Amino acid sequence: MVTIRAEISSDFAAREALLTKAFGVKRFRKTSEKLRAGRLVAEGLAFSAVNEKGKLVGTVRLWDIIAGSAGPALLLGPLAVDDKARGTGVGSALMSHALTEATKRGHAAVLLVGDAPYYSRFGFAEGHTRSLHLPGPVERARFLGFELAEGALDGAEGLVAASGRLAEAEKVAA
Ligand SMILES: CC(C)(COP(=O)(O)OP(=O)(O)OC[C@H]1O[C@@H](n2cnc3c(N)ncnc32)[C@H](O)[C@@H]1OP(=O)(O)O)[C@@H](O)C(=O)NCCC(=O)NCCS
Repeated sequence: MVTIRAEISSDFAAREALLTKAFGVKRFRKTSEKLRAGRLVAEGLAFSAVNEKGKLVGTVRLWDIIAGSAGPALLLGPLAVDDKARGTGVGSALMSHALTEATKRGHAAVLLVGDAPYYSRFGFAEGHTRSLHLPGPVERARFLGFELAEGALDGAEGLVAASGRLAEAEKVAA
């Protein structure tokens, strides 16, 4: 049995190990990382999947961005599931939970860079991002959008920029 819950600080090491196993260290060179580096995750939008022994087997986080002319939105990722737990619905459960919580918090749209054959099942589509640009190279077919509020990405154009709280500012304030 796998449970989805809010990420807690003690998940950090297991989450990072899982992400490195899933994506390798090259994950830090991705264009999406430019929108995450030095920023805090969007308030209340980091989730862990844990098995009955309390082991972390999945992770997903969302980040505050400005989606060009569409305004405030979220960037989803990375999403990863431990290879031993794949194919049992953990990824789908993390996605559903994350999108539901983002809606509850009043967010209007979510962007991501990932495999369209996987994310299309949750409603993500390339059409929503056609006139948006990321601050680096991206395969257009992997740059996807999803509207939590109908029409939120209508006519969206321009540059996607990071807008999350700065991680450094938080440390100084603490
Ligand atoms: C992608 C990932 C998160 C899916 O997690 P999961 O828990 O296995 O997902 P689910 O059990 O909810 O769904 C499994 C289904 O997704 C499909 N699927 C998994 N990865 C896929 C991909 N990259 N492209 C298309 N379909 C994919 C499986 O074939 C399976 O299909 P089925 O329902 O028809 O049998 C997981 O495979 C993973 O961590 N992969 C490595 C990192 C990664 O690629 N992350 C996100 C994509 S950029």
